[in-house]
Amino acid sequence: MIKTIIEDLEKTYQNKPKRLKHVFGVRDMAIKLGKIYNCDLSKLETAALLHDITKYYTKEENIKIIHDNYDNALEIIQGYNEFIYHGFSGRVIAETKYQITDNDILSSIEHHTIGKPNMTIYEKIIFISDYTEENRTYDNCIKARKLLEKDIDLAVFTAIDDSIKFYEDLGDDVPKTAYEAREYYKQIKESNHD
Ligand SMILES: [Fe+2]
Ligand SMILES: [Fe+2]
Repeated sequence: MIKTIIEDLEKTYQNKPKRLKHVFGVRDMAIKLGKIYNCDLSKLETAALLHDITKYYTKEENIKIIHDNYDNALEIIQGYNEFIYHGFSGRVIAETKYQITDNDILSSIEHHTIGKPNMTIYEKIIFISDYTEENRTYDNCIKARKLLEKDIDLAVFTAIDDSIKFYEDLGDDVPKTAYEAREYYKQIKESNHD
């Protein structure tokens, strides 16, 4: 399965070497973290490889996939901005094209863009690996990568907080889930430092 996915990715991203590098960077970071947190590494590898599988679908293509596959499609389409849709559509492609049924993999793909409160370790690892993989060079990503060595929840909080500020500065709508996630990880941060 992993071999097939890699072959597909190499074809899909033939003209997008940076995206391919990013995907492999997320895979490497996720495996590194998975070893620390005793996770099933093949689940993490699969989720990492597929997390951006629909990244270059058009807004209309993503909306159609969400519409056809989610009971709460309207809530998703209205509640999230278009940059976040690919998490939801990516999950569907993982299920339909690659017959993946494991929820650790599927929900990690679905929630990799902005996270959510109370993430599982798989969701958290894919989310933070996407933000901190070695090809990310923004100051905020480097800051989160450093925090990750000490405390994954603190790194997650920082990544969500920075992403919210980024979207706010752009004037984009920030999904409610992002604020809820920030609040959730802020509470953890504060309780850990009491
Ligand atoms: Fe993504
Ligand atoms: Fe990504």
